[in-house]
Amino acid sequence: MRTHYCGQIDLACLDQEVTLCGWVHRRRDHGGILFIDLRDRAGLVQVVFDPEKPASFAVAERARGEYVLRVRGRVRRRPPGTENPGLPSGEVEVVGDELEILNTADPPPFQLDDRNVEEETRLRYRYIDLRRPQMQDNLRLRARVCRVLRRYLDDAGFVEIETPMLTRATPEGARDYLVPSRTHPGRFFALPQSPQLFKQLLMMSGLDRYYQIVRCFRDEDLRADRQPEFTQLDIETTFLDEGGILAIMEDMFRGLFQEVLGDMLTDPIPRMSFAECMRRFGTDRPDLRVPLELVDCADLVSSVEFTVFSGPANRPGARVAALGVPGAAMLSRKALDDYATFVAGHGAKGLAYIKVNDLGQGREGLQSPILRFLPDTAIDGILARTGAQSGDLIFFGADDARVVNDALGALRLKLGADLGLAQGGWHPLWVVDFPMFEWSKEEQRFLALHHPFTAPKLTDPAELRADPLGCLSRAYDLVLNGTEVGGGSVRIHRREMQEAVFRLLDIQEDEAQEKFGFLLEALRYGCPPHGGIAFGLDRLVMLMAGVSSIRDVIAFPKTQSAACPLTAAPSPVPEAQLRELSIAIRRPS
Ligand code: AMO
Ligand code: AMP
Repeated sequence: MRTHYCGQIDLACLDQEVTLCGWVHRRRDHGGILFIDLRDRAGLVQVVFDPEKPASFAVAERARGEYVLRVRGRVRRRPPGTENPGLPSGEVEVVGDELEILNTADPPPFQLDDRNVEEETRLRYRYIDLRRPQMQDNLRLRARVCRVLRRYLDDAGFVEIETPMLTRATPEGARDYLVPSRTHPGRFFALPQSPQLFKQLLMMSGLDRYYQIVRCFRDEDLRADRQPEFTQLDIETTFLDEGGILAIMEDMFRGLFQEVLGDMLTDPIPRMSFAECMRRFGTDRPDLRVPLELVDCADLVSSVEFTVFSGPANRPGARVAALGVPGAAMLSRKALDDYATFVAGHGAKGLAYIKVNDLGQGREGLQSPILRFLPDTAIDGILARTGAQSGDLIFFGADDARVVNDALGALRLKLGADLGLAQGGWHPLWVVDFPMFEWSKEEQRFLALHHPFTAPKLTDPAELRADPLGCLSRAYDLVLNGTEVGGGSVRIHRREMQEAVFRLLDIQEDEAQEKFGFLLEALRYGCPPHGGIAFGLDRLVMLMAGVSSIRDVIAFPKTQSAACPLTAAPSPVPEAQLRELSIAIRRPS
């Protein structure tokens, strides 16, 4: 139907006769002459209709926004002074000789260049939203990322293998999406939270290197970087330790960023222990673009009168930390109050601070509501440790370590954004040496920090049982600019260790048999040492596209409440269908 894409028309096409198909992006009436900006996936071109060609002019008069047109015409140079340098086709225009309306369109619910459309509306009319060039760029970038990753892995001997969608629950820490079985009344499949157990079974099958670009399903609270169904690049290998696995992944990542964005990633990607991340940044996914760090100062304030500090300084599991902020002494009272309100949202009971107005003047040069509670030694120690200069401000958190880390970790990012401190570029980081377990106060049991199939650093189950909280795992996460883009581990490949870990996680023998009997059994038949990783493809593409939500790189995402406004899913189903599935709905009271 056409000879060119609209966006391809440029000076190289001068004087050529072209046929174009596309949508009416804009139509302008310039005193008798009609201009239509015609749009397709490659971009825009201006088409001119002159009343001297009455047939095509009459059709152009009927065209409206988002009508679908087919135009035949000749490419000419735009008259001097009317060029549009913002468009690749901006030096030329097409003189419309023949025009056909292929379809009409109702007035669209929003203009494509309107940036303030409610997301609900964008998702409801996603097919219109996806006509935006930015959205099409995002989807094309995603396709290119997948192609480059696939090619790398294929070349490196990885085999792409599909795993079941209708399966059993795998414990990745979220709720399952369940699918009722008609043929087994009262039983349910779970949609996979990840292909974790299947990829391990493939290693036991001797496939050696597996990958898959795979949909995963998790019923959890949604955020900008979480969707109920999302895509992983899932990978598993045999006979490689963490060093070998990370080396391949780094090589893949560096190649990806170089080929797709032309950007170089640091070589090697730095590694940092979980403990160091928490100590310096209050989180295990630090955004290294922000040059601010938490500094411990419990030892400096352990015997001060000010119990807000000395209390936590002497309490196990608590933390007193300072966050020095260069140049922030100019912050107003109101700004400081707003930051206190902000950290309160993260559980902090207050936000003490010291303004360092003039370092040379000693105490006189400082300004703070807590100054009078602190002896000189404590103040000197804090100033030295934070490296404070005149004009800086120091914030404090004192509470359970979890609260201090959450509050100051979040404050660090907010200050980075508010004060424009963040550096540009890519700041990848491998986080390693995670603890195997954390203790859950609410549930009164150990939880796996990664998942229950992650190998501990030690090999004797008895040693693991002796000090579960002191034991580190062989897990690793890849963090990029503050987003966790991937996580994996070397796996347990011996049955005794797997059973010991289940036990520590309070999964009793019968439950372990019931849920993971097939895995425990497979471990008896010659399971090789193996390990792998999964990357969140949506998150990765989100970062590469420079957008702030993974919904902008997914063609048909769900809303924050896990619904699809376009298809109105989830939806009720007819009674007969429920009966077939042996399901009765308990009406919400
Ligand atoms: P994990 O649970 O860390 O590991 O998931 C791997 C990566 O998937 C991405 N991700 C998500 N992206 C969007 N929406 C979500 N709801 C979501 N949940 C996770 C993250 C994360 O780093 N089976 C293990 C991997 C392994 O051990 O090999 C797993 O799934 O970027
Ligand atoms: P107060 O004695 O409660 O008035 O607190 C004095 C100062 O310490 C105020 O600036 C509070 O914001 C701050 N503050 C109170 N509790 C904490 C805390 N847990 N961590 C950090 N600062 C706090």
